[in-house]
Amino acid sequence: MKLSVFPSSMETARSLIFHLVDIMNAEPDKTFNIAVSGGSTPALMFDLWANEYADITPWGRMKLYWVDERCVPPEDSDSNYGMMRSLLLGIVPIPYENVFRIRGEEKPVKEAARYSELVDRQVPKKNGWPEFDIVLLGAGEDGHTSSIFPGQEALLSSDQIYVTSIHPRNGQKRIAMTGFPILTARLVIFLITGKAKAEVVEEICHSGDTGPAAYIAHHAENVELFMDAGAAMYVRNG
Ligand code: 6PG
Repeated sequence: MKLSVFPSSMETARSLIFHLVDIMNAEPDKTFNIAVSGGSTPALMFDLWANEYADITPWGRMKLYWVDERCVPPEDSDSNYGMMRSLLLGIVPIPYENVFRIRGEEKPVKEAARYSELVDRQVPKKNGWPEFDIVLLGAGEDGHTSSIFPGQEALLSSDQIYVTSIHPRNGQKRIAMTGFPILTARLVIFLITGKAKAEVVEEICHSGDTGPAAYIAHHAENVELFMDAGAAMYVRNG
């Protein structure tokens, strides 16, 4: 588990953009299958990416998938796709067909199955699971990642690529990528910022049995944490 800590959330986002571009530039003939999470943390990165670093990015060699989605229409402020469409997709020259869209407002169970089938068909496999090149995750203060929440750990070992989950506090239906496809990725990157995340980061760094985010971080073969100083404030060295 590689930890990178930066002075601010903006510097964390900027460094992660450069890191992703460097990874893609290192394999100039490759198209990268990248699964991204939603939430507010990546929104800062998408906005910065579109406005300051669009011209250094090989958009034509990126295929974007979703780690998770809230089962709401794209126009809903909760929609991860809607957020990314307004901050990034509508601005940068990523080919329309390179962005895999789910219509979260349809029946979530049907959507999860349809999206599983779509990704299963289109992403090369490793050990029977889609092998994403990069999976970008966040972590909630409660230790969730993807949209798999504490108490829903059984979803991590689902035999489906996507399942439906329910947000424990507001009951919102979600579609979530499960553990095996995430753990099969060539690289898992957590983007975590803010003091409110310091406790979950400490758990992620020091134990693998406290919540879905810690489980993924401890079982992924190649995992990096990009954090600001606030999120990393409890991390003990060593
Ligand atoms: C989502 C995300 C979720 C997110 C964490 C952190 O759809 O909400 O995929 O897993 O990464 O909840 O969210 P923030 O970045 O908003 O704190």
